[in-house]
Amino acid sequence: MKQITAVIRPSKLEAVKSALVAIDVVGMTVNDVRGFGRQKGQVERYRGNAFTVEFLPKARVAVVVADDKVEAALAAIADAAHTGEIGDGKIFVTPVETTLRIRTGERGDPAL
Ligand SMILES: Nc1ncnc2c1ncn2[C@@H]1O[C@H](COP(=O)(O)OP(=O)(O)OP(=O)(O)O)[C@@H](O)[C@H]1O
Ligand SMILES: [Mg+2]
Repeated sequence: MKQITAVIRPSKLEAVKSALVAIDVVGMTVNDVRGFGRQKGQVERYRGNAFTVEFLPKARVAVVVADDKVEAALAAIADAAHTGEIGDGKIFVTPVETTLRIRTGERGDPAL
């Protein structure tokens, strides 16, 4: 099991949701976040001469998927979130030890 955490443009959230549902991802968690990447928020919103670091609004999407679905989920997110401009976002993949569905007590992949 892996958690895929994608930080994307808020305007791409609906497209990413649809792309993940289309590959049968059955659950996801989202939140509004602020962040900066390697341009430190400066190119997307440049302010004068000062080299300030600006937080920009982003959406964070977290999905936990079975190992055999990781590549499909990465492709779905990257394709749906891509514009080709700086600030398109980033995807992180981390291992997940297990999952437990509270209602039934199921564990592991069946609990997803
Ligand atoms: N190394 C990182 N650690 C944690 N969050 C990050 C990291 N890199 C990017 N992010 C998050 O992803 C958001 C989007 O990053 P962004 O797409 O600007 O990355 P980038 O590396 O600057 O690539 P690009 O050159 O395409 O802009 C940031 O605002 C931040 O919230
Ligand atoms: Mg950037």
